[in-house]
Amino acid sequence: PLLEPIPAIPALYSSVGLSIFAFLASIYLVPALGPTFIKANLKGHDLLKVYKDDLDIPESMGLVCASIYILALILFIPFAFSTPIRDQALAKKAQEGITVVEFPHYQLAVYLSSLLSLLIATMLGFLDDVFDIRWRHKLPIPIIASIPLLMVYYAEHGNTNVVVPLPFRVLLAELINLGPLYYVYMAMLSTFSTNSINILAGINGSEVSQALVIAGSIIVNDLLYLPWPIDFRLPLHLLGNKTELEFGGVWNAGMAYGSRQLVERHLFSLYFMLPLVAVCLGFLYHNWYPARAFPGDTLCYLTGMAFAVVGIQAHFSKTLLLFFIPQIFNFVLSCPQLFGLVPCPRHRVPRFDSNTNLLHPSKAEFKTSPSKLSILVLRLLSTLGLTQVTEHPNTGLISEATNLTILNVFLLRFGPMNEKKLNQVLICSQLAGSGLAFFIRYGLAWLVYDG
Ligand code: UD1
Ligand code: MG
Repeated sequence: PLLEPIPAIPALYSSVGLSIFAFLASIYLVPALGPTFIKANLKGHDLLKVYKDDLDIPESMGLVCASIYILALILFIPFAFSTPIRDQALAKKAQEGITVVEFPHYQLAVYLSSLLSLLIATMLGFLDDVFDIRWRHKLPIPIIASIPLLMVYYAEHGNTNVVVPLPFRVLLAELINLGPLYYVYMAMLSTFSTNSINILAGINGSEVSQALVIAGSIIVNDLLYLPWPIDFRLPLHLLGNKTELEFGGVWNAGMAYGSRQLVERHLFSLYFMLPLVAVCLGFLYHNWYPARAFPGDTLCYLTGMAFAVVGIQAHFSKTLLLFFIPQIFNFVLSCPQLFGLVPCPRHRVPRFDSNTNLLHPSKAEFKTSPSKLSILVLRLLSTLGLTQVTEHPNTGLISEATNLTILNVFLLRFGPMNEKKLNQVLICSQLAGSGLAFFIRYGLAWLVYDG
């Protein structure tokens, strides 16, 4: 009885159809355009292989994916708004006695601002591939790219309240309004999502498989909000979960089930995720070990921005962050190298042993004696088993440490393995992270938040 008809669903079929075309286009165009990229000097060497004659692999092929993806999203605009277009036509036909059907300009603004952010991300990624932009220059750009998104969020009187977890309610109110800080948080989200995928890279298939698992998890989460004929979220409610973790309202079966706005937001997210999965799947085929094409920073930035876009526009940024558990771990672990406490070589990819075809943890070498703080951090990390330090035989000072990346941690903990296996371990960790994310989001929420 609570079910409102959700007339936008037919557009979902068009989205699936366009995604199939996008998949075929990416499968076909990536190898077809490879030589053109090499000719334009967009090429790289596979650091973890030995090829008889130095084989060039086309780099920044993410540009092909980005072009197909953005074209698919543009082609989809009339479909996304087919229902309001039809309603308006019907209202015109019926003439008198019919209230004018308002076109959802707001939704169009959401859609177009998202496209704009994706375009900026693609441009930034491609410029980074061509010019190797410095860290301090490229960090603020996604923040600026997210301004259109934030403006649209603001225009909708976007919620900036945070529900305070139960244990902290003794000190704070039930809801606190973060105001402008909430916008800062959302802007940081786009920088984080773009860069965190880029620094968890360097082995065949890693960038695009991370993106695929995250996008897949977002799709599963979106599907939970569609008006299915049966409410399979019922078991969750029986478990006592009545909380809408995203800022704002309380979630209960009746409200969430009938809430058209919630459905529309998650449909929006699906429209952006389905073609992304499609182009990434097509690309993975060529990027899988041994890679015939490299994604470049273009793909890392595009996918990262796409996730930030849906997280912000569909209001599930905290759930989104839960899907980034391996990236958060890798980023936190990388901080000593990113912020100069430990030397950071140009490439932190694992070390390749051509005799055994296995990967080993790679090392960063101290050229000067490490500072007290560096020693403290490295000792702590090595106690936790996250790095291995080498001491100088005479002075006893730390002379080397394994590079602080999650890939090196896998190699330290599970022993040397080949590149394909390491990527499979990475995929498994991403899947496990998503499983944990769903458990925290839907299984544990009632512990921290009441209904
Ligand atoms: C980031 C990482 C860097 C890592 C690099 C690998 C940080 C701070 N930076 O730098 O440590 O080495 O990504 O992508 O963590 N490549 C392969 N095999 C692959 C993919 C890439 O060998 O499967 C190599 C190729 O030589 C390719 C190069 O990596 O040309 C691309 O590196 P780039 O994306 O420019 O590095 P960054 O993003 O700056
Ligand atoms: Mg990169």
